[in-house]
Amino acid sequence: LAVRRMIDHGFSASNSSFIAEYFAMLVVMAALLAAASASSYYFVITLGERVVADIRSDVFRHVTTLSPSFFDTAQSGEIVSRLAADTTQVKSAVGATASVALRNVILGLGAVAMMVFTSPKLSGLVIAAIPVIVLPLVAFGRSVRRKSRLAQDTLADATAYASEQIGAVRTLQAFTNEKLVTGHFSSAVEAAFEAARSSIFARSFLTFFAIFMIFSSVVAVLWFGSRDVLDGTLSPGTLGQFLLYSVFAAGALGALSEVWGELSQAAGAAERLTEILAEKPAIEAPAHPKPLPATARGAISFDDVSFCYPAGPDRAAVHGLSFQVKPGETVAIVGPSGAGKSTVFSLLLRFYDPEIGKIMIDGVNVREADPAAIRERIAIVPQDVTIFAASARDNISFGRPD
Ligand SMILES: Nc1ncnc2c1ncn2[C@@H]1O[C@H](COP(=O)(O)OP(=O)(O)OP(=O)(O)O)[C@@H](O)[C@H]1O
Ligand SMILES: [Mg+2]
Repeated sequence: LAVRRMIDHGFSASNSSFIAEYFAMLVVMAALLAAASASSYYFVITLGERVVADIRSDVFRHVTTLSPSFFDTAQSGEIVSRLAADTTQVKSAVGATASVALRNVILGLGAVAMMVFTSPKLSGLVIAAIPVIVLPLVAFGRSVRRKSRLAQDTLADATAYASEQIGAVRTLQAFTNEKLVTGHFSSAVEAAFEAARSSIFARSFLTFFAIFMIFSSVVAVLWFGSRDVLDGTLSPGTLGQFLLYSVFAAGALGALSEVWGELSQAAGAAERLTEILAEKPAIEAPAHPKPLPATARGAISFDDVSFCYPAGPDRAAVHGLSFQVKPGETVAIVGPSGAGKSTVFSLLLRFYDPEIGKIMIDGVNVREADPAAIRERIAIVPQDVTIFAASARDNISFGRPD
């Protein structure tokens, strides 16, 4: 408008203030447009980050409640990879795709409505073609999800390997195993790359199929329409208008198929997250835990306790063990390595439940008490001392932050 005004009326000195006003308006519009784009980017991306931050905290909180038996089989690096890599994959799908999906659904529906309004007959053709396009897209989406899941799994394997080796870097260097370990890690990373490439290939193929099918159907509609124009049952103008709307609709559908690819890829990662969230702790507090006596006395009894670790189900770590510790007594348990001394403490802390037998603390069966209440009463100096990456003060007060 400003340009027309300027060209039509503008080139005379008397109108110069008029021109200035129009151009000021244009600058304001530019500012508004820029602000709208910037804030939509800000809000959409922040939404994605927010969602992922919440998922991360939830997954971590859940992981801390899982029983030691879960960690006997799961690798810590694997779990960290879920917290970091899988959530990142989900993030890219959350914010950006939501806004693209919304915009294109509205655009697509509008275009289809206008198509039906312009030519019901040709629209019928287009609508009949939709399942032919959409059903294979759904199938391809599944394959993308499976492949992306595999890619995340192999990436997690590589991460788990790295974190294990870095955790034991002194042993690694003492045995001068750097070359071997680096080689192992490189092949793990290569495997992750191959899996990711296969997932990306599946997604590219989905894009190829979507674009090809969508635009071929536009061409098909044009062909049918042009026959109607030749027969004189359709005006060329109507066909032109219809074609314009179908290009809009096709563009929207194309964008939606991209969204579908993105969502399928994120679904593979989300699957790994929901799996870990669905993991139930093997040791759970009973619905109505029996309270331990208000003042701890320190009576412990093991009554014919037998227990095998889940990782070694055919070898009992503790077999038919019975003993009593009276309040005030100091008892040392000695035995050769592997005799089951640490296992006794794990059972007492209720990290595991024995298959047979009963363990009582102050007259309460540990199975009937809240594990947190039991652990609160037990202080432990472990065999392998853990030093957390925090200050000396934080390390000393780990058991009692207050
Ligand atoms: N998490 C586990 N999964 C499977 N088997 C385990 C696990 N922890 C210990 N074991 C096995 O259970 C047996 C008892 O182990 P435990 O750690 O209680 O021995 P220990 O008496 O504390 O030995 P050490 O003096 O070396 O500390 C051993 O044969 C050990 O290999
Ligand atoms: Mg031990």
